[in-house]
Amino acid sequence: MRRIAVLVSGSGSNLQSLIDAQQSGQISGAEVALVISSKPNVYALERAATHGIASRVIRTADYSPAEYEKALLNTLTEHSIDTIVLAGFLAILPQGVIGAYRGRIVNIHPSLIPSFCGKGFYGARVHRAVYESAVKLTGATVHFVDEGIDTGKVICQRGVAVAADDTPETIAAKVLKIEHQILPEVVAALVADRIEWVDERPFIRRGEEIG
Ligand code: GRF
Repeated sequence: MRRIAVLVSGSGSNLQSLIDAQQSGQISGAEVALVISSKPNVYALERAATHGIASRVIRTADYSPAEYEKALLNTLTEHSIDTIVLAGFLAILPQGVIGAYRGRIVNIHPSLIPSFCGKGFYGARVHRAVYESAVKLTGATVHFVDEGIDTGKVICQRGVAVAADDTPETIAAKVLKIEHQILPEVVAALVADRIEWVDERPFIRRGEEIG
């Protein structure tokens, strides 16, 4: 049984999509075993409690950088975690954690990378920038995590049209729906070893097909 840690900072609707996917059997052979929040009192922690999932609050402000890395690594080890999902996690993951879990950490980002990503592009800011730029297509991306900000290899993307009557808020809602589809798809594939590398690009294997 693979053991997944989901790292959060807010509402945790993406965490919920993983819990639901585990309950429906879309994710099998793995369980969400730990939730780590960078902030106290967020709704994601209530979701964890409701589902009997262990949770911890680990705030960067409470540690030196080296201690923060240690606190995260110790907690992950204590709970025998082998896979990490960043789902709306707003802190920077320390290099030691990235190194220890390379190829086993994914992040969900609410735009079509490489557009509207990198430093400063998080939460509502992403959707406002999409709106202001007048692009007609946005979407969500799940990618592996490396040392950069939103620079890891893209595993899966899905787009959504931006219509004339959209607002940053309606764009956010449309994208969030897509996030809730693709994040469980990727995590299900990752824990079932259905990610295939083609010329250094990861794809999901779905039966005979990859893509
Ligand atoms: C999502 O849009 C995610 O892509 C972004 O932050 C939001 C978190 O939502 N990084 P939730 O906490 O999963 O509801």
